[in-house]
Amino acid sequence: MIKSKKQFICQSCGNIYSRWIGKCEQCNQWNTIIEENNSKPSGVLSKSTGKRINFEKLNDVNYEYSKIKTNLNELDRVIGGGFVPGSVTLIGGDPGIGKSTLLLQIVGKLSDQKEKCIYVSGEESLSQIKMRADRLGVNNNEIEFASITNASDIAITINSEKKRCVLVIDSIQTMYLPQLDSSPGTVSQVRASAHELILAAKKTNTILILIGHLTKDGAIAGPKVLEHMVDTVLYFEGDNNFQYRILRSFKNRFGANNEIGVFEMLSNGLKEILNPSAIFLSDRQKNISGTSIFAGLEGTRPILVEIQALVTHSTLATPRRVIVGWDISRLAMLCAVLEARCKIHLSNMDIFLNIAGGIKLFEPAADLAVAAAIISSVKNIPLSFCSVFFGEVGLSGEIRKVNQPELRIKEASKLGFNKINLPTKQKVIISEDMRYNNLSVLSDLVELINKDNRD
Ligand code: TYD
Ligand code: MG
Repeated sequence: MIKSKKQFICQSCGNIYSRWIGKCEQCNQWNTIIEENNSKPSGVLSKSTGKRINFEKLNDVNYEYSKIKTNLNELDRVIGGGFVPGSVTLIGGDPGIGKSTLLLQIVGKLSDQKEKCIYVSGEESLSQIKMRADRLGVNNNEIEFASITNASDIAITINSEKKRCVLVIDSIQTMYLPQLDSSPGTVSQVRASAHELILAAKKTNTILILIGHLTKDGAIAGPKVLEHMVDTVLYFEGDNNFQYRILRSFKNRFGANNEIGVFEMLSNGLKEILNPSAIFLSDRQKNISGTSIFAGLEGTRPILVEIQALVTHSTLATPRRVIVGWDISRLAMLCAVLEARCKIHLSNMDIFLNIAGGIKLFEPAADLAVAAAIISSVKNIPLSFCSVFFGEVGLSGEIRKVNQPELRIKEASKLGFNKINLPTKQKVIISEDMRYNNLSVLSDLVELINKDNRD
């Protein structure tokens, strides 16, 4: 027997309340709590339901683990070599970032390899999709399109397919199950529709790709459980003002985390960028203070990015800290260390920090490069044009080791950098034509910047 019960669910974090309130106590968001009907089968605990499970031995389990390459190299790198049959991938991103464009290009590529592809859009009409496909040059007539939102119809269709297929759902927030009372986009609908589609995909070995919207905080809209239910979670990031887009793996059951792929949005779709460091550094200017180069690592890929800092006298009681692409609490920590250990006074200064090219950095290894940019700006001393930095800064001002220094140095050397500023404790295989500055505490960096200017 199905018993219907009213619930109030926060659309931001999925927390459940028995009555309506204006502000969610869990995630502190206002006006996110919506009434939803929750249909739960009663009597689940009664003895008459359910049956004994037949367990299996792993030696008796066979699996097909061939990855299907899309031949979009940047995408293949992010998903760990290709799509695994029966896997579910969730791609989240801001509106207009290019999710639908990317997915249409993916089905175009997969269809060229004779994979059966189905593209279901709940957001666009077929004529809109055709316009986009013409623009992208995706003209493979084998791809099947539908503009529907009923998830249970889609699941039934997939179950009746004889052959493994690739199914794209654009987007999971538009899908609904008619059995549930709540409207599409609510937590229960998103969760239930995803569950239905995932079950069908696992049963038929279908490669399921779900597009997800982002909330204003940057998380995938709907319940967090959605991210647990799928095998791979990718974020498509970038600034709408830049043409560069970064696809980042956030969770991947078949490959490395935090792997990135870089694309450029052109008038005829997304183009891969095979050497992103060169692109990120292409607009650099000589003899400007406040910029440094960070030799970073995104997943397994080394990448060089320019860090720009501007430190000016503040007229405000609380000086401004404006950051694009880095973590604000990390900057506060770094400023405190610079203040306490190096006597660089920042408490009455506004600090503006920008990671050029619209990329976001998460690595603690960027600390040293950020510190170098800030010191260079405060002292108005340009840093050497061919030097790169990497190292984590601790609270006592010590510079700590980071992982994979060789990869970072190789990338720097490939792009013509020959001064490497790195932690003292870092063990590296030193090549002859590179100059290494080993820094053990942050004040060594201040000294180095002063000295470089005198040379
Ligand atoms: P879209 O894929 O619709 O974004 P999403 O599905 O993430 O909302 O992309 C829309 C943006 O991309 C839009 O601003 C126009 C731009 N665009 C191009 O620059 N070139 C193209 O070839 C296409 C199809 C879109
Ligand atoms: Mg779209």
